Amino acid sequence: MRVLSGIQPTGRFHWGNYFGAIRQYIDLQSADEAYYFIANLHALTTVRDREQLHRFTFDAAVELLALGLDPNHAVLFVQSDVPEVSELCWLLMTGTPLGLLERCHAYKEKKARGLTADAGLFTYPVLMAADILAYDADVVPVGQDQVQHIEVCRDLAGSFNHQFGEVFTLPKAKVLELGAKVPGTDGEKMSKSYGNTIEIFEAPQAMRKKVMRITTDSRPMEEPKEPEGDHLYQLFSLFAPPDACREMAAMYRRGGFGYGEVKKALAEVAERFFAEPRARRDELAANPQRVREILGDGAARARRKAAEVLRRAKDACGLSL
Ligand code: ADP
Ligand code: TRP
Repeated sequence: MRVLSGIQPTGRFHWGNYFGAIRQYIDLQSADEAYYFIANLHALTTVRDREQLHRFTFDAAVELLALGLDPNHAVLFVQSDVPEVSELCWLLMTGTPLGLLERCHAYKEKKARGLTADAGLFTYPVLMAADILAYDADVVPVGQDQVQHIEVCRDLAGSFNHQFGEVFTLPKAKVLELGAKVPGTDGEKMSKSYGNTIEIFEAPQAMRKKVMRITTDSRPMEEPKEPEGDHLYQLFSLFAPPDACREMAAMYRRGGFGYGEVKKALAEVAERFFAEPRARRDELAANPQRVREILGDGAARARRKAAEVLRRAKDACGLSL
């Protein structure tokens, strides 16, 4: 089984990214072959600043490694370091019905807001399909919002195979339910676009401040509360071990506590949770050459695999003489 996923370098990673995506990558890396990449070509559809894209890409690598992505287990690379993918993207593009892309949510949402989309955003799912098919991936761990794109990938691979023979492996999405929707500081889904994130490597002081500002309801302290459905409890339970969660749940049901106490407990448990990765991140950030070596090695391994699949695809459709 080959696992593959990509994550866009569009800013510092937040708790939602960790529980919704990154943690799955790390859990799956020892299962089998794993390929993980930093999707800088996709990020180019939104990040239009050279320095920023550069920094986000490097920071993404550092953060993934610090969080436990192990280059001895997984192939870690930067998307644009594998040009075979862009070539494969064109092959797939020639068989992509426009209607399929018109139904994709990123494009649809932008249109619905009256904004003009460019061809990059419109064809984004085709590049994503190429990303997946180039490595014969079987399983793609992603957040719920990406499932539609995996379906597009399967459609494109299926019709290519139908036309030209069995070239591509059809992948399956793997969605992690537990962290499927990590709430942000306002109780809505945590997302960079909503400005409600808490970053994984936020300075401890700043992190505590953000936690203390998490919105809560205004029920009186003495009133017993149901922990399920409370976003503060939801966040706490992502970090805390089961016995601490049971205790916290019991405290909710008893009532007579303030949300301030829960927030303090959340800040503490979150800080402890990321303490080791934070130390590793500082070490890596101080050794950029090591990070470049890891990415260079990852890109070389990824290219070998992608070149093999591209050759197969070109042969099948008559592009190689
Ligand atoms: P953002 O919404 O902050 O821009 P991305 O879209 O770059 O985040 O998400 C990267 C990955 O993290 C995706 O797989 C996405 O599903 C996951 N993810 C992002 N936010 C959350 C969240 N609040 N809960 C669970 N998963 C999330
Ligand atoms: N579109 C994905 C996201 O925004 C990132 C991505 C690009 C990806 N290519 C991929 C994820 C291939 C999985 C497989 O989260």
